[in-house]
Amino acid sequence: MILFLLACGHPLDSADSGADPSGSTCTSGHYWEGGNEESPVMNPGQDCVACHRSGEGPDYTLAGTVMGDYDDEDDCNGVEGVVVSILDADGKRMSLTTNAAGNFYTNDDFALPYTVSIEKDGATREMASEQDDGACNRCHTAAGEEGAPGRIVAP
Ligand code: HEC
Ligand code: HEC
Repeated sequence: MILFLLACGHPLDSADSGADPSGSTCTSGHYWEGGNEESPVMNPGQDCVACHRSGEGPDYTLAGTVMGDYDDEDDCNGVEGVVVSILDADGKRMSLTTNAAGNFYTNDDFALPYTVSIEKDGATREMASEQDDGACNRCHTAAGEEGAPGRIVAP
């Protein structure tokens, strides 16, 4: 009975989350090491939209990273080949596929608020709430801001 409770009490824990001595994790075990050098696979996990909006690089209306676990740290490469489907307030759908770093981004316009689901190999995860900010990684940090559970994690 105790084992049962322990197993069910931590649904977000993952046995392969690769904890390191600093307490941070990187499920893929691979990091971006290029600093702010321009690249589609740059700075996984960081707030793409905010930095680009501050005059660095092209403006993005929506961008983020799908990672291996909820507490993966900044610059840890995420998961490739996850389809991020956005449904905007006008019923328009946009689909973006994550690249080798787990990053996705667009500068297409869309109507706020939007809902989103992500899919890989037939498995899905959905964000229950509507959002009106395309800067996914602003909320989906390793710690989780504004009630987010942490990173956007591949299903
Ligand atoms: C701390 C700042 C910063 C962050 C965070 C950041 N970028 Fe960048 N990005 C830059 C800079 C600077 C450039 C280069 C701009 C230039 O040389 O014109 C760039 C360029 C790019 C380019 C090349 C654009 C082009 O047309 O050549 C892509 C793609 C890109 N970033 C994607 C992303 C994604 C996706 C994220 C989030 C996962 C991200 N960036 C996060 C600063 C940042
Ligand atoms: C303003 C903060 C905020 C922004 C921006 C945001 N999210 Fe979320 N997200 C949340 C919160 C809070 C939850 C948990 C509650 C819920 O599901 O609505 C969540 C949950 C999720 C989940 C389900 C998590 C799980 O593991 O069950 C996914 C997937 C997700 N978000 C994807 C995204 C994507 C993709 C974007 C950008 C297009 C995004 N989110 C932008 C706050 C945000």
